[in-house]
Amino acid sequence: MNDAPIGVYDSGLGGLTVWREVRRMLPSESLVYLGDGKNCPYGSRPREEVRRLADEAVASLVAQGCKMVVVACNTATAAAIDFLREKYAPMPIVGMEPAVKPACLNTRSGVVATERSLDGELFRRTAAKYGSGVELITAPGRGFVELVESDRESTPEAEQAVRDAVAVMLEHGADQIVLGCTHYPFLLPVLERVVAGRGVEIVDPSPAVARRVVQLLDQYGL
Ligand code: DGL
Repeated sequence: MNDAPIGVYDSGLGGLTVWREVRRMLPSESLVYLGDGKNCPYGSRPREEVRRLADEAVASLVAQGCKMVVVACNTATAAAIDFLREKYAPMPIVGMEPAVKPACLNTRSGVVATERSLDGELFRRTAAKYGSGVELITAPGRGFVELVESDRESTPEAEQAVRDAVAVMLEHGADQIVLGCTHYPFLLPVLERVVAGRGVEIVDPSPAVARRVVQLLDQYGL
Protein backbone atom coordinates (compact mmCIF):
# COMPACT_ATOMS: atom_id res chain seq x y z
CA MET A 1 0.00 0.00 0.00
CA ASN A 2 1.52 3.31 -1.10
CA ASP A 3 -0.16 6.06 0.89
CA ALA A 4 1.75 8.97 -0.67
CA PRO A 5 -0.58 11.63 -2.09
CA ILE A 6 -1.60 12.27 -5.70
CA GLY A 7 -0.92 15.88 -6.75
CA VAL A 8 -3.53 17.73 -8.79
CA TYR A 9 -2.43 20.99 -10.40
CA ASP A 10 -4.09 23.81 -12.34
CA SER A 11 -3.53 27.50 -13.00
CA GLY A 12 -6.30 28.18 -10.48
CA LEU A 13 -9.60 26.72 -9.33
CA GLY A 14 -10.49 24.90 -12.57
CA GLY A 15 -8.61 21.71 -11.71
CA LEU A 16 -11.07 21.19 -8.86
CA THR A 17 -13.49 19.88 -11.51
CA VAL A 18 -10.95 17.08 -12.11
CA TRP A 19 -10.09 16.76 -8.41
CA ARG A 20 -13.80 16.11 -7.72
CA GLU A 21 -13.89 13.18 -10.21
CA VAL A 22 -10.65 11.68 -8.86
CA ARG A 23 -12.03 11.99 -5.33
CA ARG A 24 -15.26 10.28 -6.41
CA MET A 25 -13.44 7.35 -8.02
CA LEU A 26 -10.67 7.01 -5.42
CA PRO A 27 -12.20 8.03 -2.09
CA SER A 28 -9.38 6.58 0.01
CA GLU A 29 -6.45 8.26 -1.80
CA SER A 30 -4.88 11.42 -0.34
CA LEU A 31 -4.92 14.32 -2.76
CA VAL A 32 -2.85 17.52 -2.71
CA TYR A 33 -4.28 20.38 -4.78
CA LEU A 34 -2.09 23.15 -6.18
CA GLY A 35 -3.81 26.12 -7.84
CA ASP A 36 -1.30 28.63 -9.18
CA GLY A 37 -3.65 31.53 -8.42
CA LYS A 38 -0.80 34.01 -8.38
CA ASN A 39 -0.20 33.48 -12.12
CA CYS A 40 -3.77 32.71 -13.26
CA PRO A 41 -4.91 32.94 -16.04
CA TYR A 42 -2.40 31.03 -18.17
CA GLY A 43 -4.57 31.09 -21.30
CA SER A 44 -2.81 33.77 -23.32
CA ARG A 45 0.70 33.59 -21.84
CA PRO A 46 3.57 32.51 -24.11
CA ARG A 47 4.14 28.76 -24.23
CA GLU A 48 7.63 29.01 -22.68
CA GLU A 49 6.29 30.85 -19.69
CA VAL A 50 3.49 28.32 -19.13
CA ARG A 51 6.09 25.54 -19.33
CA ARG A 52 8.24 27.22 -16.67
CA LEU A 53 5.23 27.72 -14.37
CA ALA A 54 4.15 24.09 -14.85
CA ASP A 55 7.68 22.92 -14.07
CA GLU A 56 7.74 24.90 -10.82
CA ALA A 57 4.33 23.57 -9.81
CA VAL A 58 5.20 19.93 -10.48
CA ALA A 59 8.55 20.35 -8.66
CA SER A 60 6.68 21.63 -5.63
CA LEU A 61 4.25 18.66 -5.68
CA VAL A 62 7.18 16.26 -5.98
CA ALA A 63 8.83 17.99 -3.00
CA GLN A 64 5.61 17.29 -1.05
CA GLY A 65 6.06 13.57 -1.73
CA CYS A 66 3.44 13.04 -4.45
CA LYS A 67 3.55 9.64 -6.17
CA MET A 68 1.70 10.87 -9.26
CA VAL A 69 0.72 14.26 -10.66
CA VAL A 70 -2.42 15.17 -12.60
CA VAL A 71 -1.91 18.28 -14.72
CA ALA A 72 -5.58 19.29 -14.50
CA CYS A 73 -5.03 22.20 -16.87
CA ASN A 74 -5.41 21.94 -20.65
CA THR A 75 -3.15 24.94 -21.21
CA ALA A 76 -0.28 23.54 -19.12
CA THR A 77 -0.78 20.10 -20.70
CA ALA A 78 -0.58 21.58 -24.20
CA ALA A 79 2.54 23.59 -23.36
CA ALA A 80 4.49 21.18 -21.20
CA ILE A 81 3.30 17.58 -20.89
CA ASP A 82 6.11 15.92 -22.89
CA PHE A 83 8.73 18.01 -21.11
CA LEU A 84 7.28 17.21 -17.66
CA ARG A 85 7.00 13.47 -18.35
CA GLU A 86 10.62 13.37 -19.42
CA LYS A 87 11.94 15.49 -16.57
CA TYR A 88 10.04 13.75 -13.76
CA ALA A 89 10.22 10.15 -15.09
CA PRO A 90 9.48 7.55 -13.87
CA MET A 91 6.71 9.31 -11.91
CA PRO A 92 3.47 9.00 -13.93
CA ILE A 93 1.96 12.33 -15.02
CA VAL A 94 -1.60 12.49 -16.33
CA GLY A 95 -2.56 15.37 -18.62
CA MET A 96 -5.82 16.68 -20.05
CA GLU A 97 -6.79 15.08 -23.34
CA PRO A 98 -8.89 17.40 -25.53
CA ALA A 99 -12.13 15.36 -25.68
CA VAL A 100 -12.35 15.76 -29.43
CA LYS A 101 -12.44 12.02 -30.05
CA PRO A 102 -15.74 11.19 -28.31
CA ALA A 103 -17.30 14.36 -29.72
CA CYS A 104 -16.21 13.54 -33.28
CA LEU A 105 -17.64 10.06 -33.00
CA ASN A 106 -20.93 11.80 -32.32
CA THR A 107 -20.87 14.06 -35.44
CA ARG A 108 -20.43 17.83 -35.71
CA SER A 109 -18.66 19.56 -32.82
CA GLY A 110 -17.72 22.80 -31.24
CA VAL A 111 -14.70 23.20 -28.93
CA VAL A 112 -14.36 26.01 -26.39
CA ALA A 113 -10.90 26.29 -24.83
CA THR A 114 -8.22 28.82 -23.94
CA GLU A 115 -6.27 30.43 -26.79
CA ARG A 116 -3.03 28.67 -25.91
CA SER A 117 -4.74 25.25 -25.91
CA LEU A 118 -6.40 25.81 -29.27
CA ASP A 119 -3.22 26.83 -31.06
CA GLY A 120 -1.22 23.98 -29.49
CA GLU A 121 0.25 20.94 -31.18
CA LEU A 122 -1.76 18.57 -28.95
CA PHE A 123 -5.07 19.99 -30.15
CA ARG A 124 -3.93 20.00 -33.79
CA ARG A 125 -2.84 16.37 -33.56
CA THR A 126 -6.08 15.20 -31.91
CA ALA A 127 -8.22 17.19 -34.34
CA ALA A 128 -6.33 15.78 -37.35
CA LYS A 129 -6.61 12.25 -36.03
CA TYR A 130 -10.30 12.19 -35.18
CA GLY A 131 -11.80 15.21 -36.90
CA SER A 132 -11.62 14.31 -40.57
CA GLY A 133 -15.05 14.51 -42.16
CA VAL A 134 -16.32 16.45 -39.16
CA GLU A 135 -16.77 20.20 -39.00
CA LEU A 136 -14.78 21.34 -35.96
CA ILE A 137 -15.57 24.86 -34.79
CA THR A 138 -13.29 26.30 -32.13
CA ALA A 139 -13.71 29.40 -29.98
CA PRO A 140 -11.79 30.77 -27.01
CA GLY A 141 -13.92 31.15 -23.87
CA ARG A 142 -13.09 34.85 -23.45
CA GLY A 143 -13.30 35.88 -19.81
CA PHE A 144 -14.49 32.46 -18.63
CA VAL A 145 -11.48 31.78 -16.38
CA GLU A 146 -11.66 35.23 -14.76
CA LEU A 147 -15.41 34.82 -14.15
CA VAL A 148 -14.87 31.50 -12.39
CA GLU A 149 -11.87 32.71 -10.38
CA SER A 150 -13.86 35.67 -9.07
CA ASP A 151 -16.97 33.60 -8.28
CA ARG A 152 -19.08 35.39 -10.90
CA GLU A 153 -20.21 32.32 -12.82
CA SER A 154 -23.92 32.90 -12.11
CA THR A 155 -24.05 36.54 -13.23
CA PRO A 156 -25.60 38.13 -16.37
CA GLU A 157 -22.02 38.95 -17.43
CA ALA A 158 -21.18 35.23 -17.42
CA GLU A 159 -24.27 34.46 -19.47
CA GLN A 160 -23.25 37.09 -22.06
CA ALA A 161 -19.67 35.71 -22.26
CA VAL A 162 -21.00 32.19 -22.80
CA ARG A 163 -23.50 33.37 -25.45
CA ASP A 164 -20.70 35.19 -27.32
CA ALA A 165 -18.40 32.16 -27.23
CA VAL A 166 -20.89 29.60 -28.50
CA ALA A 167 -22.76 31.81 -30.99
CA VAL A 168 -20.78 30.67 -34.05
CA MET A 169 -21.06 27.03 -32.98
CA LEU A 170 -24.82 27.26 -32.69
CA GLU A 171 -25.07 29.08 -36.05
CA HIS A 172 -23.24 26.15 -37.65
CA GLY A 173 -25.49 23.63 -35.94
CA ALA A 174 -22.83 22.15 -33.63
CA ASP A 175 -24.32 19.29 -31.67
CA GLN A 176 -21.37 18.50 -29.34
CA ILE A 177 -19.60 21.18 -27.33
CA VAL A 178 -16.31 20.05 -25.80
CA LEU A 179 -15.09 21.85 -22.68
CA GLY A 180 -11.39 22.36 -23.41
CA CYS A 181 -10.51 24.05 -20.14
CA THR A 182 -10.99 22.69 -16.63
CA HIS A 183 -12.52 25.96 -15.40
CA TYR A 184 -15.44 25.68 -17.82
CA PRO A 185 -17.50 22.95 -16.08
CA PHE A 186 -18.19 25.58 -13.39
CA LEU A 187 -20.14 27.43 -16.10
CA LEU A 188 -22.20 24.36 -16.97
CA PRO A 189 -25.53 25.67 -15.59
CA VAL A 190 -25.18 28.81 -17.75
CA LEU A 191 -24.01 26.83 -20.79
CA GLU A 192 -26.94 24.43 -20.46
CA ARG A 193 -29.34 27.36 -20.31
CA VAL A 194 -27.79 29.01 -23.38
CA VAL A 195 -27.93 25.86 -25.54
CA ALA A 196 -31.30 24.63 -24.23
CA GLY A 197 -33.52 23.25 -27.00
CA ARG A 198 -30.71 23.23 -29.59
CA GLY A 199 -29.94 19.49 -29.37
CA VAL A 200 -26.42 20.08 -28.03
CA GLU A 201 -24.49 17.68 -25.82
CA ILE A 202 -21.77 19.17 -23.61
CA VAL A 203 -18.68 16.99 -23.24
CA ASP A 204 -16.59 17.29 -20.06
CA PRO A 205 -13.41 15.17 -20.21
CA SER A 206 -12.75 15.09 -16.44
CA PRO A 207 -14.36 11.66 -15.71
CA ALA A 208 -12.16 10.13 -18.45
CA VAL A 209 -9.07 11.74 -16.88
CA ALA A 210 -9.98 10.33 -13.47
CA ARG A 211 -10.39 6.86 -15.04
CA ARG A 212 -6.87 7.24 -16.45
CA VAL A 213 -5.58 8.01 -12.94
CA VAL A 214 -7.14 4.78 -11.65
CA GLN A 215 -5.57 2.80 -14.52
CA LEU A 216 -2.09 4.24 -13.98
CA LEU A 217 -2.14 3.73 -10.22
CA ASP A 218 -2.75 0.09 -10.97
CA GLN A 219 -0.21 -0.14 -13.76
CA TYR A 220 2.56 1.43 -11.64
CA GLY A 221 1.62 -0.51 -8.50
CA LEU A 222 0.95 2.75 -6.64
N1 DGL B 1 -7.97 25.47 -16.22
C1 DGL B 1 -7.02 25.93 -17.20
C2 DGL B 1 -7.11 25.08 -18.47
O1 DGL B 1 -7.68 24.00 -18.43
C3 DGL B 1 -7.26 27.41 -17.35
C4 DGL B 1 -6.25 28.10 -18.14
C5 DGL B 1 -6.02 29.52 -17.77
O2 DGL B 1 -5.52 29.76 -16.66
O3 DGL B 1 -6.28 30.37 -18.61
O4 DGL B 1 -6.58 25.41 -19.50
